[in-house]
Amino acid sequence: CHIEQWDFDDPVPRSELLKKVAGIQGLYCLLSETIDSEVLDAAGPSLRVVSTMSVGYDHVSLEELKKRGIRLGYTPDVLTEAAAELTVALLLATSRRLLEAVDEAKSGGWGSWKPLWMCGYGLSGSTVGILGLGRIGKAVAMRLKPFGVKRFLYTNSAPRPETAAAIPAEFVPLEELSRCSDFVVVCCALTPGTKGICDGRMFSQMKDTAVFINTSRGGVVNQDDLYQALAHGHIAAAGLDVTVPEPLPTDHPLFKLKNCVILPHIASATWSTRNAMAVLAANNLLAGLRGDAMESEVLL
Ligand code: DGY
Repeated sequence: CHIEQWDFDDPVPRSELLKKVAGIQGLYCLLSETIDSEVLDAAGPSLRVVSTMSVGYDHVSLEELKKRGIRLGYTPDVLTEAAAELTVALLLATSRRLLEAVDEAKSGGWGSWKPLWMCGYGLSGSTVGILGLGRIGKAVAMRLKPFGVKRFLYTNSAPRPETAAAIPAEFVPLEELSRCSDFVVVCCALTPGTKGICDGRMFSQMKDTAVFINTSRGGVVNQDDLYQALAHGHIAAAGLDVTVPEPLPTDHPLFKLKNCVILPHIASATWSTRNAMAVLAANNLLAGLRGDAMESEVLL
């Protein structure tokens, strides 16, 4: 192949992308690039395959790809474990107030041992609600189980009896999940059906002791509503690995809240996982160009 590569860790500027895609057959992209009609028009009719180095593909216009007969590769499975691990880490960091505690220890706030100081919420005996019981949702549940979780609830576009039986988890409506869960963990993909589903209504149904975790996509959450819920104590705390926009501006009000832990979209960031994603995305692209079956293809 002849390869035009943007050889920097920062995303390719849009103008550069639009210029460089002209006449290509295959496009290897990241979740930071919006692949829409503008990019596809700039590429022209030669483009046959798009391969994204991500499991999420909400940055790609499926409709436009389908219209033009362009295939799409993505990278499920290889990042499930890393993403689940980070979700558990974020949940614990948020519920046990790790960042606040480290700050206190460093800044002289650590006085004598006090019974109620730095208390948070534990998993033992708790109810965990999972939004989206896909690969990552299941892997999160399996990792949380040994912490002594009493009950797992889940919502999904449709029940997943086999996956649920392995945990076990009960399929319930979102409202019941919100009302009953001590921890709400969002693992679903961003689709028109999940956009903004975590909103003021949902937060008002949650317990005021509940912890909300999102490692899927920021667009699933109404961030203004989340801010209100956190600032007014309608829920106890939130841990976010994803936001809108990304990066979240450093002066964003969510950064001012002690009960909100924000990570810079690092769920899949282990060396081996990113390597596996990179290789899978490259192999998907090559298979697509050859007209072969891809290891992981989105069926359009
Ligand atoms: C993905 O792959 O979609 C994650 O958000 C980043 O690894």
